[in-house]
Amino acid sequence: MVEFEEVLSLLRGGEDTLRKGTEVKRATVGNKVYLRGLIELSNKCVKNCLYCGIRCENTGVPRYELTDEEVLIAARYAWESGYGSVAIQAGEQSSARFTDRIARILDKIKELSQGELGVTLSLGEQSRETLAKWRAAGADRYLMRIESSNRKLYESIHPNDGRHSFDRRLEALYDLKDLKYQVGTGVMIGLPNQTLEDLANDIVFFQETDIDMCGMGPYIEHHGTPLYETAQNTKMLSLEERFRLTVQMVATLRCVMPDVNIAATTALQAIRPDGRETALAVGANVLMPNITPSTEISNYKLYDNKPIREGKMGGGDAELFASLRSHGFEIGLHEQGNSMHYKKRE
Ligand code: 5AD
Ligand code: SF4
Repeated sequence: MVEFEEVLSLLRGGEDTLRKGTEVKRATVGNKVYLRGLIELSNKCVKNCLYCGIRCENTGVPRYELTDEEVLIAARYAWESGYGSVAIQAGEQSSARFTDRIARILDKIKELSQGELGVTLSLGEQSRETLAKWRAAGADRYLMRIESSNRKLYESIHPNDGRHSFDRRLEALYDLKDLKYQVGTGVMIGLPNQTLEDLANDIVFFQETDIDMCGMGPYIEHHGTPLYETAQNTKMLSLEERFRLTVQMVATLRCVMPDVNIAATTALQAIRPDGRETALAVGANVLMPNITPSTEISNYKLYDNKPIREGKMGGGDAELFASLRSHGFEIGLHEQGNSMHYKKRE
């Protein structure tokens, strides 16, 4: 366990920490980038997070749900293109119908890829029974960000309406571990009133929770949300500063938890076109190109200026792969790229 003070000094360590992250990455997870084709199944959501563009009160967003067939077309595309895994993401919904539908999709993805595609789910807080059912149907991993491990800060970015409980979120994370998922969490960086100490504590939290995967991204205002107003009246880091701090967090986490999978997130790309490559250089090893089919992709807008896609169905991969290779990365084609940390844990 790397203690708080040491984490803090890594966060303050500038270039030195970036060099360490690069070195630790080389010596542990190596040079490979693993791909998860991201399928944004639906932007319907029962939650009302104050920062998010698809919160339920945002009536300006046309709501959509992909058909099973569209999801399976995307999954087959991923498999045939050599992606080791897909990640199915949606706003939070809970119903027996939804639970069964996801189980059915999992079953079909495993079938069409002859069990080769890994599947990550990112579908919000669900009952233990639902999570167990999806695990049994073939889900390998689950992503659920804690957003901030500081309870007060968490409460300041979620409505106090009984449906956004910090404790409930923790409980769901522990359920996932118990059910033997590979568990991923993460935080947003540069939130109103977030301090460097908060971020150091986030990394302590990741260690205590013994996570297998992590996704961290800069907070980016969405103009149609309540947190946008707060941000106007708060002394915020600039987007460029949030970018640099996120990269610093990635390198620090790589030093502290050398064998976890770390995603280079899309929100980094929203600030700088090659933002994800920067994160990959200092510690990240997973990339999630968006392969959501059809026209719905532009309706999954969590924040302003969200890049639409590049791992485009039917032809955007060549460019992405070339960019990764020109940055010196090897692509882990046809490999699930499971978390080394998880393998050791099990
Ligand atoms: N800026 C950055 N990230 C955001 N997310 C949601 N809204 C925003 C925003 N405005 C992130 C949250 C969530 C993930 C799916 O997207 O961390 O967990
Ligand atoms: Fe829903 Fe997730 Fe957005 Fe919160 S962050 S409103 S849970 S989609």
